Amino acid sequence: MDSREFARQIEARVAAFCKSLDVRPPAYSYIPLTKDEERVKVMQSRLFNEIRAGEIFGSWLKTIPELDVKAALAEAVHEEFRHAGFLAETLRNKGADPYDYRPLPGQMGMFNAFEALTGTVERMAAFPLAGEGVADYLIGMCLKSGTVPEWVLEPYRKIHEDEETHGSYPAEVLAKYATTEEKQDRVRRAVEMSLMLRRQYFDNLDRWVFEGKVW
Ligand SMILES: [Fe+2]
Ligand SMILES: [Fe+2]
Repeated sequence: MDSREFARQIEARVAAFCKSLDVRPPAYSYIPLTKDEERVKVMQSRLFNEIRAGEIFGSWLKTIPELDVKAALAEAVHEEFRHAGFLAETLRNKGADPYDYRPLPGQMGMFNAFEALTGTVERMAAFPLAGEGVADYLIGMCLKSGTVPEWVLEPYRKIHEDEETHGSYPAEVLAKYATTEEKQDRVRRAVEMSLMLRRQYFDNLDRWVFEGKVW
């Protein structure tokens, strides 16, 4: 398949997954939360994600031969740590310890699975495109909800601005480099893996926040 058409198909797949979250937004989006105690837990979980994202992008640098992608990821490492700084500061201002947090099973599995991917196109599809795509979709929903308190929105406005500026970049990488049937097949499977594991992480986070389930 033509790689531009393929990139559009993958974007459509991720967009459909995002839409499926509209009816019942997860705790991750902050939208269903009613107490600051719950919001602190979600923010701690999402602070872990920012740092883990930076670590994984950094771990991929040496094994990505395409210089343009390598350079973009190097910038992303810095950006993720900036995001982590915003969330850590917000949590401290709320009187919470930003790092008093144990990652959830589905969350550990999701990031470990990203980290283990080896090819440039499946890495970019699974994490920046599908993973961050869903995350940023829910940030957008949260910012527009009208019910999430200002102290939560403040750091996410800055994070959303960053994510929006490079929103189409992963799809451009696919259009440029996912040029064979074999690569496209690996991308499709990596995207399904990413979305499946994300659902599991969201489910774990819901159970921890709403039911106090611990692992
Ligand atoms: Fe990011
Ligand atoms: Fe980030």
